[in-house]
Amino acid sequence: MSELSDSLRIQTMKIADERLQSIWFEADSEEVCIIDQTSLPHELKIISLDSLEDACQAIASMQVRGAPLIGVTAAYGVYLAVRNDSGSLDRAIEALRNTRPTAINLQWALQRVSEALAGIEAEALAGKALEMAQLLEKEDIAVCEAIGDSGLPILQALWESKRDSQERLNILTHCNAGALATVDWGTALSVVYKAHAVGVPLHVWVDETRPRNQGAALTTWELTAHHIPNTLIVDNAGGHLMQTGKVDICIVGSDRTTLGGDVCNKIGTYLKALAAHHNGIPFYAALPVSTIDFSIVSARESIPIEERGAEEVSHIEGITVGGQIETVRVTPEDVAISNFGFDITPAELVSGIITERGIFEANEASLGKLLE
Ligand code: MRU
Repeated sequence: MSELSDSLRIQTMKIADERLQSIWFEADSEEVCIIDQTSLPHELKIISLDSLEDACQAIASMQVRGAPLIGVTAAYGVYLAVRNDSGSLDRAIEALRNTRPTAINLQWALQRVSEALAGIEAEALAGKALEMAQLLEKEDIAVCEAIGDSGLPILQALWESKRDSQERLNILTHCNAGALATVDWGTALSVVYKAHAVGVPLHVWVDETRPRNQGAALTTWELTAHHIPNTLIVDNAGGHLMQTGKVDICIVGSDRTTLGGDVCNKIGTYLKALAAHHNGIPFYAALPVSTIDFSIVSARESIPIEERGAEEVSHIEGITVGGQIETVRVTPEDVAISNFGFDITPAELVSGIITERGIFEANEASLGKLLE
């Protein structure tokens, strides 16, 4: 673990008072632990997953979310399944595969796990499945840290070009592509954490990201924990901020990016990219190579866009002045609602793809080099 990783963890520890990742295996009690992200920012609740059903439920209900974290959780889900019943491997993979449709890391992780478990004897299956889940967990940390290293020069160069005329660099991000969306570090926010650590003065505009409010609840929470100045804005504010010179760069994560450079990410990302393009503002997606779907070039017809329940739009959860968590309806009772979870930002609106293996142009010629 690098010195920088330790210093970031120390900052995170101030909230939890212990070393914190979004998922980990507790060796003594043999528990798979997660931060229940549905309780944030009001309560930092750690829960343990004990079965395949727990893991499926955690992914589907978004107790864990974010493409890389979904993948690692699925790997632990396979371990939990075969630990309880060594004959349940195929059923487990199928059940986990169907928890969420859009993030490709889920399929990627399950593919890796099932390849590693092929031909393993029943009595050795749980041990090997745990080994794989822990490997994916560790790899994710290293990969996400490397994404930060790859993206750092972009923010440093931008700051050099702006430092004479402004006090800080203004970054806009959408949804949560931070440590909470991965095992640690994050993708888009890994770049931010790295730049902050080397002294680039930063300020992050955080889109609230309706309907699940990942920006309002999670991104502000983790940026504040890392002492990074941030301001929450409503989802429709980004265009105005870009038009009035208040955004220097947009960095987002991705749930699936095609070989052709189309970026599928949380609903609303596309509108930010359009506004950035119109205003000459660089727009980057930061993602692990495992988020690239090399089997498709163009996203529009090929990526399944998750549609979620109407209650995510009609209702909103919050904390009352008395400290009670309550859910209230914000719409008329029988209003028609659609709730698409993701959208596609076409490659031509993307300035570059930041990965653990460097920065690539959003096109097949450039991203295809990753296959070499
Ligand atoms: O529906 P979610 O919260 O799982 O969506 C997450 C996002 O869209 C993130 O921005 C994306 O997964 C990138 S996370 C590193």
